[in-house]
Amino acid sequence: MRLKDKVAIITGSGSGIGRATALLFGREGAKVMSMDILGDTAEATARDIKDAGGQADYVQGDVAIDADVERMVKTTVERFGRVDVLVNNAGILAVMRVAQVSEDLWDRIIDVNLKGVFLGCKHVIPQMMEQGGGAIVNTSSVAGVRGESNFSAYSASKGGVVLLTRTLAVEYARFNIRVNCVCPGLIQTPMFDRQLALLSDREKALERMKKTIPRRQIGEAEEVARGILFLASDEASLIMGAALPMDGGVWAGDPPW
Ligand SMILES: NC(=O)c1ccc[n+]([C@@H]2O[C@H](COP(=O)([O-])OP(=O)(O)OC[C@H]3O[C@@H](n4cnc5c(N)ncnc54)[C@H](O)[C@@H]3O)[C@@H](O)[C@H]2O)c1
Repeated sequence: MRLKDKVAIITGSGSGIGRATALLFGREGAKVMSMDILGDTAEATARDIKDAGGQADYVQGDVAIDADVERMVKTTVERFGRVDVLVNNAGILAVMRVAQVSEDLWDRIIDVNLKGVFLGCKHVIPQMMEQGGGAIVNTSSVAGVRGESNFSAYSASKGGVVLLTRTLAVEYARFNIRVNCVCPGLIQTPMFDRQLALLSDREKALERMKKTIPRRQIGEAEEVARGILFLASDEASLIMGAALPMDGGVWAGDPPW
């Protein structure tokens, strides 16, 4: 049990990578605060952790709203007494050419994916400093470390997450707070399914996508959750400011033809 008695907040835990992470953390002994903009999905994840014998609660909120994030941290401390781990995972995606991105859409993507991470860190770090330490794991993307056509706002937000992660890692290392991020590639989640559903010939599109991955396989949410667990656990005590690729080899080099 790598997170025995640790208290962990996971944002965007109602679906996909966040849900897989919350369930895994629950199995690893953490007391989990499940947070999502869709309160019923956050609640369902917390219920599933409890049904499996773990400890969990939930809070509804929008990571882009300062008061919601402040309440998320406060509620967790009231409920479980402390916060050892924060996983800033909530995110949204829009795939289109930059000229098609409206100002409102640009703002919302940056607000959720980048400002949301800032707000989570801003509100949890004073609590972690008071306790004597903690670990933060942010969800960036392979799109945050290399350019991808039609991903302008998303890539900009996720690239921002990588550098915010590194900045906070050096800023808070001496306070025993580790800050790292994961950079998943294509992962089988509802977000991935929604994008696939927009394409005309899904089977062909899926085969084309797999060919861009050296492993030739789409990742599973549980595989990303295991990387997040490692970075959140004391096993990663020396790791600070890392952007861990979790992409089947995409970041390592050109896809083989
Ligand atoms: N699936 C992929 O291929 C992939 C690849 C790289 C990175 N990521 C990143 O992983 C993270 C999780 O993605 P996923 O694929 O599991 O997506 P998902 O859509 O399945 O789950 C995202 C969750 O975040 C919640 N959410 C959205 N906006 C929110 C907000 N403002 N406040 C609180 N909760 C909010 C949603 O309700 C949902 O439950 C995201 O940050 C995403 O950008 C995903």
